[in-house]
Amino acid sequence: MTGTDSGSASVQHVGTDAWTPSSWRSKPIKQPVDYENPAHVQKAVAKLTRLPPIVTANEIWKLRASLRDVALGKAFLLQGGDCAELFDYCQADAIDSKIKLLLQMSLVLIWGANKPVVRIARMAGQYAKPRSSPTETVDGKTMPSFRGDILNGYPADEREIDPDRLVQAYFHSAATLNYVRAQLSSGIADLHRPLDWNLGHVRDPDLQTRYTKIVESISESLRFMRTVGADTAGQLQTVDLFTSHEGLLLEYEAAMTRQLRHPPNRFTSDADAHSGSVQEDAIDDSDPTGSYNTSAHFLWIGDRTRQPDHAHVEYFRGIENPIGIKVGPTTPAEDLVQLLDVVNPNKEIGKVTLITRYGEGRVEELLPVHIEAVKKSGHIVVWQCDPMHGNTRSTTSGIKTRSFASIFKELSLSLSIHSSLGSFLGGVHLELTGDAVTECTGGSVGLLDEDLGLRYETFCDPRLNEKQALELAFLVAGHQRGKRPSVIAQM
Ligand code: PEP
Ligand code: CO
Repeated sequence: MTGTDSGSASVQHVGTDAWTPSSWRSKPIKQPVDYENPAHVQKAVAKLTRLPPIVTANEIWKLRASLRDVALGKAFLLQGGDCAELFDYCQADAIDSKIKLLLQMSLVLIWGANKPVVRIARMAGQYAKPRSSPTETVDGKTMPSFRGDILNGYPADEREIDPDRLVQAYFHSAATLNYVRAQLSSGIADLHRPLDWNLGHVRDPDLQTRYTKIVESISESLRFMRTVGADTAGQLQTVDLFTSHEGLLLEYEAAMTRQLRHPPNRFTSDADAHSGSVQEDAIDDSDPTGSYNTSAHFLWIGDRTRQPDHAHVEYFRGIENPIGIKVGPTTPAEDLVQLLDVVNPNKEIGKVTLITRYGEGRVEELLPVHIEAVKKSGHIVVWQCDPMHGNTRSTTSGIKTRSFASIFKELSLSLSIHSSLGSFLGGVHLELTGDAVTECTGGSVGLLDEDLGLRYETFCDPRLNEKQALELAFLVAGHQRGKRPSVIAQM
């Protein structure tokens, strides 16, 4: 099969040969990188393999246990961040605003779902982008496509692939996560402090009332918990925030893969620890060590690189981290089940998150087929909706955008479809930023196509700004809340 694109007919033989962090090299690969100087790449890779892990096996298992809870309906997953993270975003203000936004959205979602929320940032490593064409035209000039800061730079004179960027990616990732950890432990997420919800932009009086009521209800619950001293475990002082990125650049991912000892008690989630129950999945416990991707807690396979017999799936099948797979209009249901069998042969609950992204116009036709196929296969996955990537459009002047209404429509349809089929939506996956950009239209800020030029800053796909992202959380929470009697939320 090496070097060719083969169809799903050969898939029954996939995933049975011995796995190593570099076994993907013998498979055909999508989105390959033609480095001009292999010795230069080798030097960068050698450096990466000597550097310490960015995340630990313990943290990876903590997330894995939390995602098991999500798969079983005991928690909800919020994942969000930039489409293309730049090395330049490694700055205090940009990181702070993203942490605060994810925290506020998660509070709203806790209120809505009445479940704990697991937070994963698309941050501290989201530096590689798949592209549909090797070249692009910017301001009338055709040049090699921007493939993310880990490979080349956005400015026209930095489009050449530079292997030193692999090492720069490591240091930007480590510096970002170092600051996130420092801020969390210094109280940036301390819920004893009042949060600034800033709803002044909501012009519609009905919406303003609805959102204000939600904020009051959240603030009231927090006050109540403080008053009764419910914060015995310090849960109000800080929160967990995990990191993630698309595992696209396998040279980097393989170099960051380490054989580590499994942590003790790795099969027990927080919920299990409280209830005294222990996971009964058929996890292979014969080897005290495993292969961990230590560059992020969670990695996902993109829509363009998920062919069951190709390199990316081969790499992903061997790592201990919880993983995601993007699922879209071009995913045949049979491929989906084969993929799950390859990357998760023991059917471990919540090991795989299926990130569905069909677009508002196709979700009703496609999602039910995928839900039924997975149900029949016996895999228990996290179903997460990415309402961004199927809803990209161009304005008449050629600007790439997404409308808030389409994003919410795909999300609310996904919630309804899951519940009508006896399944449930476990999470959302969003492209967002804590800055006041103008990249997506609509929402209470009322952005129109002609406003997009005001602060259009993305280097890849359009992101929700802070107000739009928070509003989406309000709407999702309202949708979830509308489906059940009111109960006291768990912070
Ligand atoms: C992305 O998440 O930025 C992305 C490229 O998505 P997809 O693989 O679903 O197209
Ligand atoms: Co994107």
